[in-house]
Order: sequence, then C-alpha cells, then structure tokens
Amino acid sequence: MAGVTIQQLQQMKFRGEKIAMVTAYDATFARILDAAAVDCLLIGDSLGMVVQGDENTLSVTVEDIIYHCRAVARGSQRAHLVGDLPFLSYQVSPEEALRNAGRIIKEGRAHAVKLEGGEEFAPAVRLIDRAGIPVMGHLGLTPQSVHKMGGFRVQGRDEEAAARILRDARALEDAGCYALVLEGIPVGLAKRITESVSIPTIGIGAGVHCDGQVLVCYDLLGMDEVFKPKFVKRYENLQDRISGAVRAFIDDVKGREFPREEHSFMS
Ligand code: KIV
Repeated sequence: MAGVTIQQLQQMKFRGEKIAMVTAYDATFARILDAAAVDCLLIGDSLGMVVQGDENTLSVTVEDIIYHCRAVARGSQRAHLVGDLPFLSYQVSPEEALRNAGRIIKEGRAHAVKLEGGEEFAPAVRLIDRAGIPVMGHLGLTPQSVHKMGGFRVQGRDEEAAARILRDARALEDAGCYALVLEGIPVGLAKRITESVSIPTIGIGAGVHCDGQVLVCYDLLGMDEVFKPKFVKRYENLQDRISGAVRAFIDDVKGREFPREEHSFMS
C-alpha cells in the first residue's frame, strides 16, 4: 500500500476530510496503528514523559528521537511519519536545526520533522524546507517552553496572545511549513487559524474546527488512570485490561496452571 504523502494531507484539508494522527514510539504499536489506517504517526518528544517517565519533554535527545523513529519506521508501511525535533536541537541556529532534521530523516527514516514555536523559527523552517525536508509547526501550548509558560497551560486566551499565535501561524506557512499542530488553545482561535492558512491544522485540545486531531496513543488507550486532562478522550481502559491479564498470568504461574502440555516441548 502506498504511503500517505504531504500532498494527500493537503488535499484532505481542501476536501474537508479530517486527518487522524497518533503518537507511536515502537514497532509493535506502529504496526497496529498503521494497520488501523491512521494517517500520520508522530514520534513525539512526549516519549520523554510516557516512555522515559520524566515530568516534561526537555531531556529528550536527538538520539532518542532517531532510535524511536527507526523502530516506528520498521513497524509501519502506510502512515506519514513525523519525528519531533527535541528541545535545543533547533533553537541555537538554523544550520543546527537543518543538521538535526536531516539526521531524523536519514537515520530515523521519518518523512517529516516537527518543531515548536512561531515566527522566530521561520529561518530554521525555511532552511530545512529548502533542503527537501517537510516541516510541521507546533503552536499554542508548546511543551518545550513549559517553564516559560509557568506550566502546561492553555495559550492564546486574551486578544493580544491570540493575535500573536495567528501571526505565528501565517509566518510558519510563509516559511514553508506543510502543516501545523495547534495545542491547548481556545476553539475560536483554532477556527480562525484553520480558516486563515491553506495548510492543514491538526489540533490537540484545540477543538473541532481543526483539519485533524492528534492524541498521544497511551492517552487514547487509557494506559494511565491518573492522567486525564480535559482534551483527552479515552477509547479503552488498557491500564485495567493489562493489569487484569498480568494478574491472571501470575495466578496461573502460582497455581501451576501455566504452562500446560500445549505450551511445552515434549521431546
Ligand atoms: O510530542 C508529542 O506527542 C506532541 C503531540 C502532543 C502533539 O507534540
């Protein structure tokens, strides 16, 4: 099956067909999500929290992203693969941004990279895009700026902040971004941005008017009973199902119910 291209994502916006993106960090999840026909898999720096157990995404390295990108690339066939540029891999200079983006494509086998921030990163976006690497922008609640934002807070609530995010969206489109993640902003602002740019917007905590939606796969599958922000919809309760399955295994082992003859090599 042919892979999803940035041109197809663009056409989906024009047709009004919504884009579904989910995070993935390993080959097994990638295989399952890809077979379910998700449009895009994001190898997000959220892996710092859900895979590595940190309280934010700041410690994730380019090597981490490459490692997880390669695993996801091995597991998927169809989905468009986006690798996150982690904290401090693109902020120092456009040249360093291009070098790191290139590694994520070349070594990680991603199809595109994503970076957080607005107009100030237009030179980096331009340079990466000119090298033939598609760049997805990320505006609103940008987790790599958690300390500057004073926590994971909804952004763009007042008119001045909203106008700045709208300006950033236009600047990123002008610089060559092919899509934008809009995270943690009011529904009305996400609608204004989506109507003002010709590239697809993919929302998380940004309401229904975005051209697509993204969720962290562990959140949508209910892998963490405690973490339940307003913007997440849980489609499963895998925490309970996994712990039930493992408890059953433990009971079987302790009760000598497993392994049986059918699980054993008799000669
Ligand atoms: O890292 C990530 O998973 C993300 C999404 C939440 C958009 O950036």
